[in-house]
Amino acid sequence: MKGEEWYQEDSVAARYETKRFSRGGRLIDQREKAAVLEALGPVEDRRILDIAAGTGRFSLMLAEQGADVVAVDISQAMLDQAEGKRRSIQTAGTLAFLRGDASTLPFADNSFDAVIAMRFFHLVDHAARFLKELKRVSAEMVIFDTFNRFSFRSVYNWALPMGSQLVSPREVTSWLDEAGLELEASVDDWILPYGLYRVMPLGLAKLIRPADARLVSLPLVSTLVSVSYWTTTVS
Ligand SMILES: C[S@@+](CC[C@H](N)C(=O)[O-])C[C@H]1O[C@@H](n2cnc3c(N)ncnc32)[C@H](O)[C@@H]1O
Repeated sequence: MKGEEWYQEDSVAARYETKRFSRGGRLIDQREKAAVLEALGPVEDRRILDIAAGTGRFSLMLAEQGADVVAVDISQAMLDQAEGKRRSIQTAGTLAFLRGDASTLPFADNSFDAVIAMRFFHLVDHAARFLKELKRVSAEMVIFDTFNRFSFRSVYNWALPMGSQLVSPREVTSWLDEAGLELEASVDDWILPYGLYRVMPLGLAKLIRPADARLVSLPLVSTLVSVSYWTTTVS
């Protein structure tokens, strides 16, 4: 999988957040964090595993809010960025970083209350195999997102160097069946391409975003949503 290798480079890791979440892209960061918090509910004192934690966007937020977090990523370069950010925040909960592969986790069954894996499944070939492993270590829930096949992202997705994959909701449902996870909720968002937000000043993006959010609920247009946030439970 290209995504495993791409993020190993120091220069890629150093640019990861500025490339995606500066300017209008800050709205994307905020939306993803809100989606995770909404799916998790109260996080204080909960044991949360952040899979493909990257630069720690979610791990740091959750530890700041009192969760006990373990952040796993295959790239030391990405984890180094997360460690750097950690020095400037106060964590109410605990936070540990671990380099590892999400397909074979060094944890006993049910070690965590919840597992999150954001911006991960577009990088893997056998999603159900990974989901089974995430389910094994989670006592309650597994939360993740996917990029959708029938969206503006399909126009430029082929050119992305990390080998991004787009999927349909039906494919995700079949992963859940295979992994033995129950779907609790899924939320769709974003019609306009992320690339547009990233080039826009934040002020302009804030003006456009409410219209984009409204488009998601329109019949026909809604079939073009870019992203789905999935909340699943361990049965
Ligand atoms: C797009 S980044 C997402 C980082 C973070 N979740 C976020 O949303 O900002 C994808 C991350 O997946 C990690 N990754 C790729 N394959 C992995 C694997 N098999 N096990 C653990 N991490 C992996 C990469 O190193 C990279 O940090």
